[in-house]
Amino acid sequence: MSRPQLRRWRLLSSPPRGVPGLALLALLALLALRLAAGTDCPCPEPELCRPIRHHRDFEVFVFDVGQKTWKSYDWSQITTVATFGKYDSELMCYAHSKGARVVLKGDVSLKDIIDPAFRASWIAQKLNLAKTQYMDGINIDIEQEVNCLSPEYDALTALVKETTDSFHREIEGSQVTFDVAWSPKNIDRRCYNYTGIADACDFLFVMSYDEQSQIWSECIAAANAPYNQTLTGYNDYIKMSINPKKLVMGVPWYGYDYTCLNLSEDHVCTIAKVPFRGAPCSDAAGRQVPYKMIMKQINSSISGNLWDKDQQAPYYNYKDPAGHFHQVWYDNPQSISLKSTYIQNYGLRGIGMWNANCLDYSGDAVAKQQTEEMWEVLKPKLLQR
Ligand SMILES: *[C@@H]1O[C@H](CO)[C@@H](O)[C@H](O)[C@H]1NC(C)=O
Ligand SMILES: *[C@@H]1O[C@H](CO)[C@@H](O)[C@H](O)[C@H]1NC(C)=O
Ligand SMILES: *[C@@H]1O[C@H](CO)[C@@H](O)[C@H](O)[C@H]1NC(C)=O
Ligand SMILES: *[C@@H]1O[C@H](CO)[C@@H](O)[C@H](O)[C@H]1NC(C)=O
Repeated sequence: MSRPQLRRWRLLSSPPRGVPGLALLALLALLALRLAAGTDCPCPEPELCRPIRHHRDFEVFVFDVGQKTWKSYDWSQITTVATFGKYDSELMCYAHSKGARVVLKGDVSLKDIIDPAFRASWIAQKLNLAKTQYMDGINIDIEQEVNCLSPEYDALTALVKETTDSFHREIEGSQVTFDVAWSPKNIDRRCYNYTGIADACDFLFVMSYDEQSQIWSECIAAANAPYNQTLTGYNDYIKMSINPKKLVMGVPWYGYDYTCLNLSEDHVCTIAKVPFRGAPCSDAAGRQVPYKMIMKQINSSISGNLWDKDQQAPYYNYKDPAGHFHQVWYDNPQSISLKSTYIQNYGLRGIGMWNANCLDYSGDAVAKQQTEEMWEVLKPKLLQR
């Protein structure tokens, strides 16, 4: 599926019309030589195809989901881009020119990985993909349910360990990371060996968002990543003796738009009961909305921007054209900045976001300012300003 592979295949399968056999052979030999010499590098400079080897102290881990908005990212900060969209060789070349790693997405059905032979072939395939695309590692994003007593529990730890060993051996300086929920307390029925997985890879990306995926109390709209709840998650990871340097704080650049069944005068928005993995209601009752859309909508809200002191998060209410009330909860520079102070205080590895595409890169003056502020709060507090 990779681009270089596709290009090779096309060359081999459709020789120019009328080329005699000998010339075709010569062409093939030349192609083999070029490939052996690594000259199929798509970058303007061949050295940009080399994997990044150096490590920076503070990690800024960026998820990208496609298109070309990456051209407007703040590359002075980025250390890793996890490409969850289509592979873009231009992005790879550019990231490398800025000293940033580009990593693959790794997802696999957990039923399959119980078989060690399947794991080996999955890893070999990902490694080959990373190499042919000149990438610097892989971000393993398994968000599936795992029972504590199931064979998947140990197989998952083994998969992470084997992936890390292979990548580190085959691609010098490469990075293998694993995405975990906001808390290690088996959120969404994900019973993982968190300490084992943290030991087995370079670091964990903690997804400190979707924290209302299981609402056990009242079914009301609430913050995507409330301050206390978020920090409790990190405390719990550290308490199980995971080194803070193995944790990168993931923050949301999106929010949730909930339709209210009832909106009380003190802004309590009752939401529909949509169960999730055993919990009676969840954020699945809402709709994820990117920060750029929220910023466009906020001026037409009926409440103006509000701040919840308990959850330390902004929100607002609006009325849709059909007359239904909505409540939107999100994160802004203020709420993110409060949480990211914890990174320095507790010595976490860095910060990252889902996802970088959520901001407005149109260049419009108001949007530009808002976008810059979101990138700015990622900076370590001591260096800020
Ligand atoms: C987690 O994995 C490590 C490494 O495989 C192992 O030593 C440890 O016993 C596991 N812990 C639990 C709680 O299963
Ligand atoms: C619904 O909201 C109205 C105010 O808009 C409030 O008076 C009423 O008590 C609420 N009902 C419930 C069941 O919360
Ligand atoms: C929203 O209102 C603020 C303050 O009145 C203004 O500065 C900003 O330009 C407006 N945003 C949009 C998208 O219209
Ligand atoms: C948040 O945590 C602090 C410190 O643990 C505590 O004092 C405070 O009451 C908590 N706030 C909420 C709303 O739970």
